Amino acid sequence: MVQVSQALVAGDSDAFFVTVPAAAVGPAECALLAEGAQACRLPAPVCASEVTERSSRGGMILNNLSLCYQNKLILAPMVRVGTLPMRLLALDYGADIVYCECRGIKPRALSMLELIDLKMLQCKRVVNEVLSTVDFVAPDDRVVFRTCAKEQNRVVFQMGTSDAERALAVVRLVENDVAGIDVNMGCPKEYSTKGGMGAALLSDPDKIEKILGTLVRGTRRPVTCKIRILPSLEDTLSLVKRIERTGVAAIAVHGRKHEERPQHPVHCEVIKAIAGTLSIPVIANGGSHDHIQQHLDIENFRQATGASSVMVARAAMWNPSIFLKDGLRPLEEVMQKYIRYAVQYDNHYTNTKYCLCQMLREQLESPQGRLLHAAQSSQEICEAFGLGTFYKETTQEIDARRVELLAKTPEEVGEPAEDTSGVIKMAVKFDRRAYPPQITPKMCLLEWCRREKLAQPVYETVQRPVDRLFCSVVTIAEQKYQSTLWDKSKKLAEQTAAIVCLRSQGLPEGQLGEESPSHKRKWEAPAQDPGGPRTQKPVPPGELCKKPFSTLDNGEESPLEGW
Ligand SMILES: Cc1cc2nc3c(=O)[nH]c(=O)nc-3n(C[C@H](O)[C@H](O)[C@H](O)COP(=O)(O)O)c2cc1C
Repeated sequence: MVQVSQALVAGDSDAFFVTVPAAAVGPAECALLAEGAQACRLPAPVCASEVTERSSRGGMILNNLSLCYQNKLILAPMVRVGTLPMRLLALDYGADIVYCECRGIKPRALSMLELIDLKMLQCKRVVNEVLSTVDFVAPDDRVVFRTCAKEQNRVVFQMGTSDAERALAVVRLVENDVAGIDVNMGCPKEYSTKGGMGAALLSDPDKIEKILGTLVRGTRRPVTCKIRILPSLEDTLSLVKRIERTGVAAIAVHGRKHEERPQHPVHCEVIKAIAGTLSIPVIANGGSHDHIQQHLDIENFRQATGASSVMVARAAMWNPSIFLKDGLRPLEEVMQKYIRYAVQYDNHYTNTKYCLCQMLREQLESPQGRLLHAAQSSQEICEAFGLGTFYKETTQEIDARRVELLAKTPEEVGEPAEDTSGVIKMAVKFDRRAYPPQITPKMCLLEWCRREKLAQPVYETVQRPVDRLFCSVVTIAEQKYQSTLWDKSKKLAEQTAAIVCLRSQGLPEGQLGEESPSHKRKWEAPAQDPGGPRTQKPVPPGELCKKPFSTLDNGEESPLEGW
């Protein structure tokens, strides 16, 4: 007997509790629960079907913060496209559930077998108080997945995996920040299938069972998978029945075979047969090309496939307002909204540009398309769309928030603990574009140290948790130098510290068009030991920069001069 009772959970009027006997929770019960959700005629898209704990009476409490996949409009997983700004925009326009992108490969640098689960496992979970997001950050400081409270109970985390235990480890990392977990079993790309992931899994049902079963047992979040159809209907139906038995909450079916491309017709009849066979919700996918041009078409596609829900990829990538009941919004307006989210959430400009190019499509040759094509920063993208002032104001607000947070909690943000009174500080930043290729401030500083027979610069870098920015302190002859501005990576922070040192000494920094340094102050070294490289001798902090000019020992021009 399944008992459904509505309960209000803070800010989530459609969440409800369900109590069922512990032993009775299986696919059929999941379906019943989903029906229960529908019976409740819950107005908003998120409903409950999550097993959270075993009660003392041996029952299970199925509660909130989970998803029901019945009768939903879903933004499909799309690598590079499904980042936070697109997901938020899709939600604004009426999508009920949004899947994150599944980024498995870092194209050039890493081996083709690098998997999203491996990548995710290297990530740290960082609360970004400046942007009010939760970030999963790779060791190279790249944000692999960024999410925020606004989507927390509607975002599904999709991953590529070929290993149950690794997949579970990833789920443990993200489960508190997402509403559902999905395993990608449809990606036909070689980089995915070579690693046994994506569509390769479809020919290994035992592995599918192991992965899905492990995840279903191991997480409190609903688990789903997204498949393609197999060459024969019989095999497809037998596979989806096995999948259903693992206890997944729903199954998304891209109605194409492994070798079929997006322009091939989608097999609605196969999705329909699957929907007619399974008890769990079936999510129809693959309709963008032939079926879905406007909002009404989504429901038509749902009916044609007999599915519970529809998942839209390309039609939403081209114009995410496809989810809006009232009809498509003009692209200009949609792109502006997208850009605003991109700036607010500090989306990398290359990703923003990529998504806007997908929206512009055949208008890429228009004046605006050309401006977009030429843009090399978020600021330039904003200017191309008449959002220059918005960019300025928003980034100022973000900077102000950062400063405010730092002022409030100095010890929490990881400022260097040592007494910094003797540190020479300046508000400088390193801008790579201001330097010729191959030349950096660090190189300039190192060269000066060699010339001056000083020990090599020593860089110490800290990262503060509040915004994950870095600050480096460089020590030369016992004097420390540091910028008051924090950088996005350790490498940048070191360059910035080197600039502070060079600039405070009036030394050439290697910048393009830098004035001839002949008039500049030269390096102030402590008393020299003419015999060979020296160890750093203690000098009072700040002493170095107070000393008068000195020339190089051998009177030679430094190779850095004139840069
Ligand atoms: C740019 C792009 C990226 C995609 N990335 C993924 C992905 O990461 N995971 C996945 O399961 N499917 C991915 N897909 C496939 C879509 O989710 C979807 O299955 C396919 O486009 C068919 O749906 P549609 O007709 O609505 O476009 C991607 C599709 C596109 C266009």
